[in-house]
Amino acid sequence: MQGTAVVGSQWGDEGKGKVVDVFSSKADFVVRYQGGANAGHTLVVDGKKTVLHLIPSGILHPQATCIIAAGVVLDAEIVANEIRALKQNGLIERDGQLLISDHATLILPYHRAIDAAREAALKHEKIGTTGKGIGPAYEDRASRRAILLRDLFEPDTLKAKLEKTLQEKNFLLEGYYKTNTYSVDELYSQMMTFAEELKPYRSKDTSKIVWDALQANKKVLFEGAQGTLLDLLHGTYPYVTSSSTLSGSACIGSGVGPGQIGKVVGITKAYCTRVGSGPFPTELNDEMGETLQKKGGEFGATTGRVRRCGWLDLVALKYAVRINGITNIALMKLDVLSGVDEIKFATHYEIAGKKVEDFPFSIEGLEGATPIYDSLPGWKEDISGCKTLEELPKNAIQYVQHIEKLAGCPIDVVSVGPGRDETIWVNSLFE
Ligand code: GDP
Ligand code: IMO
Ligand code: MG
Repeated sequence: MQGTAVVGSQWGDEGKGKVVDVFSSKADFVVRYQGGANAGHTLVVDGKKTVLHLIPSGILHPQATCIIAAGVVLDAEIVANEIRALKQNGLIERDGQLLISDHATLILPYHRAIDAAREAALKHEKIGTTGKGIGPAYEDRASRRAILLRDLFEPDTLKAKLEKTLQEKNFLLEGYYKTNTYSVDELYSQMMTFAEELKPYRSKDTSKIVWDALQANKKVLFEGAQGTLLDLLHGTYPYVTSSSTLSGSACIGSGVGPGQIGKVVGITKAYCTRVGSGPFPTELNDEMGETLQKKGGEFGATTGRVRRCGWLDLVALKYAVRINGITNIALMKLDVLSGVDEIKFATHYEIAGKKVEDFPFSIEGLEGATPIYDSLPGWKEDISGCKTLEELPKNAIQYVQHIEKLAGCPIDVVSVGPGRDETIWVNSLFE
């Protein structure tokens, strides 16, 4: 059995959480493999909203084992809070329902402080990070000085690592950024509290667990965070996050081979949003943009920031299909377009007077890109109650089918509301 990877095809917040929650009713394992608490994945069940930052979006299905794999940067405080909140609501029902890789990189308070100080120093050129310490934590992993989850359970190692790393971090914080420093004792005792809370969930080798599951024909979902255009290597660099957000990262982050991934589901909003700085060719700085923002409730699930909104960008979507090997698209938030008279979508860009079909690799190219739009007539009806594609208004069906044709990839799920049952299955994705 091969696993299914779920990735964002745009700039994040496409609705990955909803899709993973819905799929998870049939999953045996759900694996988060990259990113950290910069993610905010929203699940709406019977009108009740749950926002998860680190815990996989399969957690509301007790039969599914949720794994936080080695590729994740783990904020011990945030994950401990999330676990506590879920337990208080009776939502972690059995031992072994949540496993966290011993090899995950820890985010400590100084990572958050460095993130904030760097952003402040960048002034008008800031990336617009979530301030969760993601970049500084991945830097430590790459430079081989990270503190890992397993270090929490070896107090001497933890203390020694803190002593060593704080010499450098405090020098940077105090000497360069002129901000507060941290003491070894303070951080050590804080971390020891979290060690106690996280101990029941630690797992020595989650990659072997995933391997065994796939060998035993279990259904495994790999849950991506962020989105394609925020990828560290292939996104709109430098306005990106610090991990690889592509489907290939499901392999690296969870420790399985590429042959273990069968389907790659590209979660795609029926329009586009972006939170944070950086180029966004189809952005609408007008009434239409405001309408999408309001109707779509486009506020960041992690930071509460207003999301920038614009039309669907097929140049970017085709790029996402290509670099992720997306096999199936889930088209989200189609209901938000109800009432729009003319729905536009970019099919090409104009760059330096030339009509361009391919997403430009350099940010300079992208910044100079003017979208070339096509459009289709909209529909007025409320579509949130539609259960099949045929029940949708004629113009909504036309929009879905046209996007499918232009993207060159089947649309197998159409989402018409935040709730689980506001989902139209064109094809069953798990077969
Ligand atoms: P994620 O980061 O990709 O999981 O997405 P977020 O949770 O950050 O943002 C998606 C938002 O859209 C959440 O508030 C969801 O509840 C909501 N949502 C998901 N699908 C739909 C849909 O089809 N229609 C509407 N109206 N809202 C949706
Ligand atoms: P989910 O998983 C949308 C953006 C930030 C910023 C850039 C770098 O909910 O889709 P970082 O804190 O990662 O260093 O910030 O990436 N960003 C996201 N935008 N959704 C996310 O996650 C994001 N995670 C990071 O806004 O522009
Ligand atoms: Mg989100």
